Amino acid sequence: MIIRGNISLKKYNSFGLDYKTRYLVQTKTEKEAAALFNGTIHLKGPILIMGGGSNLLFTGDYIGAIIVPGFKGIKTEEVSDEFAIISAGAGILWDNLVEWSVSKGYGGLENLSLIPGLVGAAPVQNIGAYGVETKETIVKVKTISTHDGSIRFFTNDECGFGYRSSIFKNSEKGNFLVTRVYFRLKVNPIPDLAYGTLKDEIVKLGEPSLKLIRQAVINIRRSKLPDPAVIGNAGSFFKNPVVESAVADNLKKRFPGLPCYNNRPGSIKLAAGWMIDQCGWKGKRIGDAGVHEKQALVLVNYGKATGKEIFDISEKIKLSVFEKFGIPLEREVEII
Ligand code: EPU
Repeated sequence: MIIRGNISLKKYNSFGLDYKTRYLVQTKTEKEAAALFNGTIHLKGPILIMGGGSNLLFTGDYIGAIIVPGFKGIKTEEVSDEFAIISAGAGILWDNLVEWSVSKGYGGLENLSLIPGLVGAAPVQNIGAYGVETKETIVKVKTISTHDGSIRFFTNDECGFGYRSSIFKNSEKGNFLVTRVYFRLKVNPIPDLAYGTLKDEIVKLGEPSLKLIRQAVINIRRSKLPDPAVIGNAGSFFKNPVVESAVADNLKKRFPGLPCYNNRPGSIKLAAGWMIDQCGWKGKRIGDAGVHEKQALVLVNYGKATGKEIFDISEKIKLSVFEKFGIPLEREVEII
């Protein structure tokens, strides 16, 4: 385990904000991590578990310990005619896992190509893109209790997955450190092309295969979403709001162009990016904080923005969308 004091977070958050943390803790084994929670090692202040820093907005220095999980290893646990159960350490880069699964011919993660962050964040956020969410393939999640260092497994049901959420973000927030995630992938996958834009891109490339779907997703993401290594950002800053069907019907009458997606029966998911765009925010910039020019759901740091400046723009956007559409936006990004 490596524990360092007074460390810049610039490399550890995808907005590239230069705040400091009192401690930065890098753990490689579960035994090391347990020592942080069972009384063996005492660190002053609160603890924040980091999943790659691609969904956080720091608004100041962190007066506690930030834990960066370093658990590695991707393993095929068992294979049958239909499924392969695989597991990956929480510290593996998410996209490295997707690439590995595609190279093995295991289907289920390919639509989630190029999502930034670490494997450990996948169940916390229930990451999703192009019609697929990780909850569809996660079998179980191995964790360490941050209260006593004991190991606990969560089954898929116990994770309480929802749209970009799980119990690890809600009722059990801060209570568990994810160390390994187990997925059930298809050995003979049928490509999932339900998502219109993806289908169009695949048709351009050729006969659908896992590799080709991955390539299509990469192409779409690269064309629409800014690369955090070049322009600081955290992907979608807000969630797409879920409203009752009647509310969506009313809005559709007033705004016929509003993209709507089916959600649970009786509810509809609205495209927040479209609404923000309609409010005139796309490509706007206040100082170095701004709204991406190709995707209004993504807030960006053009260089020297502070977390507070990015937060302030997000508040202004929420206000505009509420005034125009009567819909309160909820942030997907966590403010620290
Ligand atoms: N749109 C606009 N203007 C914009 C942005 C979007 O008109 O500035 C319209 C698009 O034309 C489209 C609709 O809004 O009709 C939806 O846009 P898009 O397909 O780009 O997807 P999204 O709903 O904005 C969601 C996820 C993304 C995920 C994509 C693709 C959320 C909060 N975001 O975005 O996830 O990659 O779908 O599946 O659910 C993330 O969570 O960080 C993320 C990037």
